Amino acid sequence: MPSARITAIARANSRLVGFLQRAETLRTRPGAIDLTLGNPQELPIPGYVEALARHLPPIDRDSYAYHRSDHNARAVVAKRLIEWRGLPFEPEDVALTPGAFGALAIALDVLVDPGDEVIFSLPPWFLYEGMILGAGAIPVKVNTRAEDYDLDLDAIAGAISPRTRVVIVNTPNNPTGRIYPAATIEALAKLLGERSSEREIYLLSDEPYSRLVFSDASFVSPSTFYERTLISYSYGKVHLTPGQRLGWLAVNPSMPNREGMQALIEMAQVAGGWMFPNAVMQRAIVDLEHLSIDMVELERKRDLMVDELSRMGYSLNRPEGTFYLWVRSPDPDDFAFCNRLADDGVMVLPGTVCEGPGHFRISLTASRQMLEHSLPAFEKAR
Ligand SMILES: Cc1ncc(COP(=O)(O)O)c(C=O)c1O
Repeated sequence: MPSARITAIARANSRLVGFLQRAETLRTRPGAIDLTLGNPQELPIPGYVEALARHLPPIDRDSYAYHRSDHNARAVVAKRLIEWRGLPFEPEDVALTPGAFGALAIALDVLVDPGDEVIFSLPPWFLYEGMILGAGAIPVKVNTRAEDYDLDLDAIAGAISPRTRVVIVNTPNNPTGRIYPAATIEALAKLLGERSSEREIYLLSDEPYSRLVFSDASFVSPSTFYERTLISYSYGKVHLTPGQRLGWLAVNPSMPNREGMQALIEMAQVAGGWMFPNAVMQRAIVDLEHLSIDMVELERKRDLMVDELSRMGYSLNRPEGTFYLWVRSPDPDDFAFCNRLADDGVMVLPGTVCEGPGHFRISLTASRQMLEHSLPAFEKAR
């Protein structure tokens, strides 16, 4: 018999897997417009391939040796974090990881014991539940506020138990595009501080979209307010290269026993199967760090789709960050709606797979032309 833990994860993800298998087939049809996942639909951003090529040739005999987190790359990230966050990050606070995925897995490995509880808010990134189960912990789900998708602090307070070990906060949020206001995060930090008296509660701040912030919004990291915060990050979003598996996990500089936490993270990376990015990607960070997808163009695509869908009568908020739109489905059965849309060649993600039934998610990583071409199908499907 396979392990009960992996069987439970497979069960939790069965709808998602089924949907993605169908999408794989549908996207090969001529003219199909795939707006399901945050995948690139065009060639990489200018400068990306050149940066990798620059760091491919070996500079010494260690270039292709085993590498834990490379000191130069950590220093580059720490310097950027100081500029952005105004917190005194040191290179040792930054562990380089295979994307935010890897960072989350390592963080959970370090923070939870079997039977501990991990709280997260709905609708979530669809893999938190599987990852929490994978770490042997118990997922505890709370709703966000229906009107604006802000964190529901009363719901979080009600969900905290003596077994609560971690609260995951994802801002800017996938799928809603919401950036939580500073006041909400400050109040959450206060709550977690008060409820940490018997057992410390850690905040796992999942921030892979922290650079995808629109001009009418601003981002504040929970690390500003809460000492026991670990930050997970991925370059897969800002470069739109999710297959390159590059990211980091950062320890908040004010973390109690900061050095102990750094050491445990590195041990979890080794024991977890050498969870470091490959040597070339690590070396390239110095040149990759400043690259970004075109945020002006992304904002134009956001506005095009929000304006057009609202004109057609769809109900949605204008996202403050990320490259997703979260839309109420005109048919309460979001799978039925998405299938109808797919019959007309446009694929979107049913909200049910993000635990948001009655909604669907659109990825804006397609080109503007593809988005424009998708509009008649949206008009017809409603
Ligand atoms: C909220 C969130 N966290 C983590 C990840 C994982 O990112 P990556 O695959 O780049 O590691 C994603 C990817 O979609 C995400 O949306």
